[in-house]
Parts: sequence; structure tokens; C-alpha cells
Amino acid sequence: MARETWGTRIGFILAAVGSAIGLGNIWRFPFQVSQEGGAAFMVMYLAFIILIGFPAMLAEFVVGRKTELNTVGAIRDFAGGYWQYLGGLFVFIGFVILSYYSVIGGWVLRYILGSVTGGYAATESAAAYFGMVATGTDTLIAHAVFMLLVIGIVALGIQQGIELGVKVMVPAILAIFGILAVYAFTLPGAGEAYAYYLSPDIGYIMQNWQSLVPAAAGQGFFTLSLGMGVMITYASYLGDDKNLGIDGISIVVLNTSVSILTGLVVFPILFSAGVDPATSGPGAIFVSIAEAVLDLPFGRVVGLLFFLTVAIAALSSAISLIEVVVSYAIDEFGMDRVKATVIAGVAIFILGVPVTMNTVFINLYDILAAQILLVLGGVLLMVLVSWLHAGEAIEELEQGIGDLGSIGSLWIWMVRVPVILVLLVSLYLGVTGYIDFLTGAFAEYLGTL
Ligand code: PHE
Repeated sequence: MARETWGTRIGFILAAVGSAIGLGNIWRFPFQVSQEGGAAFMVMYLAFIILIGFPAMLAEFVVGRKTELNTVGAIRDFAGGYWQYLGGLFVFIGFVILSYYSVIGGWVLRYILGSVTGGYAATESAAAYFGMVATGTDTLIAHAVFMLLVIGIVALGIQQGIELGVKVMVPAILAIFGILAVYAFTLPGAGEAYAYYLSPDIGYIMQNWQSLVPAAAGQGFFTLSLGMGVMITYASYLGDDKNLGIDGISIVVLNTSVSILTGLVVFPILFSAGVDPATSGPGAIFVSIAEAVLDLPFGRVVGLLFFLTVAIAALSSAISLIEVVVSYAIDEFGMDRVKATVIAGVAIFILGVPVTMNTVFINLYDILAAQILLVLGGVLLMVLVSWLHAGEAIEELEQGIGDLGSIGSLWIWMVRVPVILVLLVSLYLGVTGYIDFLTGAFAEYLGTL
């Protein structure tokens, strides 16, 4: 059977944008911003997206389109030897990320329900409602429902499932969030929120770069879906005649716009309701938005639209995560798509079960995945493409664009030195930070005994 392909170029761009826009922009981004010093984080993040994220994305595209294979096959084909295990690492990262991502997706489904039934308005506090949603049997059920939606879409295939889905989902995200940003602009706390969010304190950056660098690099990779083969896989369904540069720029610009837009929605809502944006941790956006919208005009409708958008965004990313695993099973083992999707989905569901029992697993999985595994996967792939196969990489990038001249070598040198350097520094800081987190969590656990 012939390998599947995208029906249209815009289908590919929307799928990649749908993968990029997700919980990373809406759930992870605001709490990283408030944890890491507001606008200071923004500056670092934007710089990394452009200087690190974009060149790295092109490197993934090149490997995927040149080989037209899943990540494992693609890297084996591109580099051979032990490098193929890098593809295996990517598949593994897909498992880890989707397992907790889906649990959070399940929370979002519960908040949609809560907006409709007035659930979080009826509970004594927003934090108490979050406590109910975050763990327990219902959380497990919601996680299962979310995974079923993911399986359902991906089992339908590239064109009939993923491409059709993102053609509806991505415009919906942009439209609803646009409306919410206009609404947020009319709120009394908007001015204060914009100042907090958009005026960086350079002194803060100088003092805190050790936590800012890995956080911003990790967030940059996470939000662009880099470092785990999603962009390799999606580009493998693409023909040679497309301009990867333009596609990459469109994806980066759209994704960054949604992150900024999220800030323009979230921070005015929080400031207007007097909710402290520095409430950190994975529950932050849920607790604070639920608390805030209740005090605002049209609160429940706003809450409903907000969580609906988050759910759509999460779904359009989750399908890309599982597709990495599914395409591997199809290409390498000749499995049929439906069977591959169901098996992968069930395995990922099981890995997520601990997360539904204790939220500490979210940090455990998330920091490991975003600040260590994605960065590790990224750095290895960048070394492979830029140092070992630069010639082929430039040649492949030129397909569909034409002779790039010195731009091609500029790209390769960007990847060779600054991208790899930032990733290595982030990886080192990420690992040491994770060890601190683990010892801290362990001490806390002992304290509870
Ligand atoms: N980019 C997605 C988001 O921001 C998450 C993701 C990470 C998806 C890695 C695929 C791969 O939510």
C-alpha cells in the first residue's frame, strides 16, 4: 500500500500549527511566565523561538521529507548506525508527554462541563474544585475520554483524520481566542496586566539567567513540538515541491501569536479579578481562570469559551504526539493504522494512570520531558544534521526553494554553534534543576511520613 500523504500544503501547515498550539501555549506558558519573572521570561522565550526554534524546526523538516519515513526509519535512513536509537528516544518521549498531556486534557474536559453546569461556581472555592478535578476516579475517566478522542481522529488516517480535524480546529482556536482577547481588553485590569506582561526587567534577566535559560529553551522546544520527531513525522507526508522555509515561518509566527494572545487573554482576566498571576504550578491556569471568570461580566460564557479552546488546542497537539508512535508502528512493523493507534493509545493511557492519582507526577513527567528529554533529543538531532550531514541537509532544504547560496550555510552555522550551545547549557541546567526538584520532592515526601 502506498504511504499516506497530506492532501494539500495548507493541510500540512495547519497540522503542524495545530501540533504546536496546545497546552504548551495556554496551560504551560502562563505559569512559566509568572514563575520566571513575567516579561523577562517573554524576552528570552521570543529570542529563543526565533534564533533556536526556527532553525531547529527546519532541521527536523529536512530529515522527515528527505526520507519519507517515521522518526526511527528516517534517522536510520539519514544517518545509519547507532543513530537509529535516537529515533527510538523520540518515540519514547512521545509516550511520556502524551501520557500526562492527556490527563490535563481530561481536566480541561471537566472544566468545560463545569462551565456548563456551574460546577466550579457551586464549589466553595476555585482551588477546592481543582482539587476534585485533579485526581481520582473521575480524573481517570476523563483521561480515558480524551485518549478516545485522540485515537478516534488518528485512526481515520492522515487526510481523513488529522488533516480534516485541524482544518476545523486551528481556525476555531484563533477565532475564539481573538474574541476573548478583545473581551479582556475591555476589563479594568487590562492596563496593569499588559505592563506586567510586556515590560521586561533587564536586571531580573541578568540575575536569574540560570533558571530562565533552561525554562525558556524548554518552553521553546515544547511549544514548537520540537525534539521528539513530530516535525520529522509530519514532514515525511510532504512532497518535494514545497518551500519548507515559508512553511516553517508560518508555523512559528502563528504559534507565537497564539502564545502572546493567551497572555493578552489570561493576564487581564486575572488582574481584573484581583487574582495573583504568580500562583504557580500545574493547577495555576485552572484555579485562577475559574476563580476570576466568576467575578466578571459574562463569566461563565467566558469560562466555557476559554476551556473549549484549550480542549481543541490540546487535542490538535495530542494527535501529533501519538502519530509519531503510530507511524513508527505502521512503517516498521507493517501494522495497520487502526490497530497501531489503538495499541499505542492504550499503552499511553496506562502510563498516564499514576498522574491521575497524584499531581506531583505532572511535574515529575513534565520537567523530565520538556527540560531534559526534548532538549537531549534536540541536541543530538542538531549535531547529526548540522555537523555530520550538512551537505545533504542544505540540498534537501533547497528542494522547492531553489539555490539558497549563503543562506544555506548561515542556517547550518546557526545550528552548529548557537543552537547547540544553548541546548547544551539548557540540558546541563535542566538536569541539575531536576535533581534539585527530585531531592526536594523526596524530602517533602519524607516530611509527610
Ligand atoms: N507543542 C505542544 C503544545 O504546545 C506540545 C507538544 C510537544 C506536542 C511536543 C508535540 C510534541 O502544547
